[in-house]
Amino acid sequence: MKRIFIAVLALIGIIGLNTAFSADEKMLHENHHHEMNMMDTRTSLGLPAEMKQHQLSNMREHLEAIKSIIGLMSENKFENASKIAHTKLGLTPEAQKMCGMFGNENFKKLGFAFHKSGDDLGDALQAGNANKSLRALSKTMQYCVECHASYRQ
Ligand code: HEC
Repeated sequence: MKRIFIAVLALIGIIGLNTAFSADEKMLHENHHHEMNMMDTRTSLGLPAEMKQHQLSNMREHLEAIKSIIGLMSENKFENASKIAHTKLGLTPEAQKMCGMFGNENFKKLGFAFHKSGDDLGDALQAGNANKSLRALSKTMQYCVECHASYRQ
């Protein structure tokens, strides 16, 4: 009886140790992963300080526009959503000017394509078709994802 008791205790001990080790190992992997993430391998645009804040505040407006469009779509207010898409995400003269200021040609191209997709989104919303609008929104947001994966300030 005593021997069985000791054997059970030993087994519990081994299992306990094992989980402790695997927890450490998991943390090690996470730390390693974290280190990898800390290396920013994206292309820097080399923006001067005065352009940095301007770009970031523009970006926050883009995010807000996406949020508003989704909210308005959920209330079936497609016309209002269309207006936001055209004015905040579309290729307006201001957007054209802003994107034209960048020296990086590929970044510029991505920026223009993104704003064109904003106008396509505005058109889809204007037509009032939810599925088509969501597809267009997804396409526009693909540009957000793609550009952020490639470039930093
Ligand atoms: C053509 C490139 C490009 C596109 C398209 C783009 N962004 Fe950005 N965005 C950037 C860059 C560059 C930064 C700065 C990132 C850095 O330096 O780490 C940025 C930063 C941001 C930030 C951080 C703002 C802050 O205050 O820190 C947000 C939010 C953002 N973008 C939202 C969006 C959203 C939403 C979209 C799409 C609707 C979008 N962006 C499309 C290039 C882009």
